[in-house]
Amino acid sequence: MFNRKIILGSVAGAVIAASAFAAAHSPVTQRQEAMKAVGGQMRTLGGMAQGKIEYDDFAAISAFEIMRNASATAQPLFASAGDGSEENRALPEIWADGSDFDARMTQMIADLDAAIAAEPADQASFAPLFGAVAGNCKGCHEKYRAPEE
Ligand code: HEC
Repeated sequence: MFNRKIILGSVAGAVIAASAFAAAHSPVTQRQEAMKAVGGQMRTLGGMAQGKIEYDDFAAISAFEIMRNASATAQPLFASAGDGSEENRALPEIWADGSDFDARMTQMIADLDAAIAAEPADQASFAPLFGAVAGNCKGCHEKYRAPEE
């Protein structure tokens, strides 16, 4: 089993780092950093899901916790389009129908909460939980994120 105290300690550290960051940057930059933190966990988790990286419950659950906190940080930062002075890939459709966008982010957070609560002890129980989390990314990006230039 993993050690929850250590996980909570590292999450607290990440939250402190995030709020130090928040003081110095605009909502647009902050949400991009938060989304980067979400994406940053995907390679290891994807590797574990595919069996290319040996499953490690501590690493997997810690990664879900980081993604969960980063998603919750990002969600309210999408409330405003920004003043247009900063480069970003958020499409105007987000604010045309904000409730769908918000519901998608809420769903991803719920899937992460479920994955954390399940405390998957082995790769077989982890893989479908990861699949549910990862299933949120593409649909939202296709609808609400501009393609890379
Ligand atoms: C509710 C919609 C939504 C969901 C769900 C979502 N994203 Fe995003 N993501 C966005 C939007 C919109 C942007 C562009 C933000 C901007 O440029 O201001 C973005 C940007 C990103 C970026 C680029 C950050 C940068 O600026 O460098 C990464 C990486 C990313 N998302 C990863 C993920 C991953 C991985 C998942 C799934 C686990 C995911 N996202 C789920 C909407 C979403």
